[in-house]
Amino acid sequence: MVKSSSDTHPKLTAIVLISGNGSNLQAIIDACRGGLAIDLLAVISDNAGAYGLVRAKTAGLNTHVIAPESYENQQQWQRSLLNMMQLYRPDLVVCAGFMRILDASVVAAFRHRIINVHPSLLPKYPGLRTHQRVLAHGDARHGTTVHLVTEALDAGPMLAQSSLAVAPGDTEQTLDNKIKYLEHKLLPEVLAWYATGQLSPGQAPIKNDQTQKASHKD
Ligand code: GRF
Repeated sequence: MVKSSSDTHPKLTAIVLISGNGSNLQAIIDACRGGLAIDLLAVISDNAGAYGLVRAKTAGLNTHVIAPESYENQQQWQRSLLNMMQLYRPDLVVCAGFMRILDASVVAAFRHRIINVHPSLLPKYPGLRTHQRVLAHGDARHGTTVHLVTEALDAGPMLAQSSLAVAPGDTEQTLDNKIKYLEHKLLPEVLAWYATGQLSPGQAPIKNDQTQKASHKD
């Protein structure tokens, strides 16, 4: 289990949901090693081939694969996922590149405790292919948002944003690299607010206050 050394505040616990590479998971693991006072209880993936599972195992974390194709329908899959999440009783659930939509029962069971990192400056571009859409629209700026998960896709209360200027030669790939760089700083920063009591699991942020504090620009 990844533990940090700080004992100033009671340790919060978290589980992380992933689907793929897990670079954001790695950023969280590294932050915990660097002193972020959060106990990572487990990593759950919907994809057995996710490289993030390798990262989690290397860090000594519990891992679980709960893949939709192993269930008869979405409902059964979500129920199994929820059961696993509830077994750990985490303070926070971090969606770090988790490419599935959580249904209302999961969201309700962890109301204002599920955090997602989304690669756009929400409310712009919820959903997929955000870099492509930024380029197609000729946007001057792009960025990433950390927000609470609600029933509406990528539309829950925002906790933090970080942005950059889109450069003339940028492609989807260069933007992906640049946005990931921002995410790897922003997500651990938000978790640190929880760890130090500046945000409380289960509470939505006070509008404008937290998001303003969290807004980074290059
Ligand atoms: C990140 O860009 C995140 O914003 C999005 O999916 C990507 C996951 O990347 N939701 P990784 O698996 O953390 O490397």
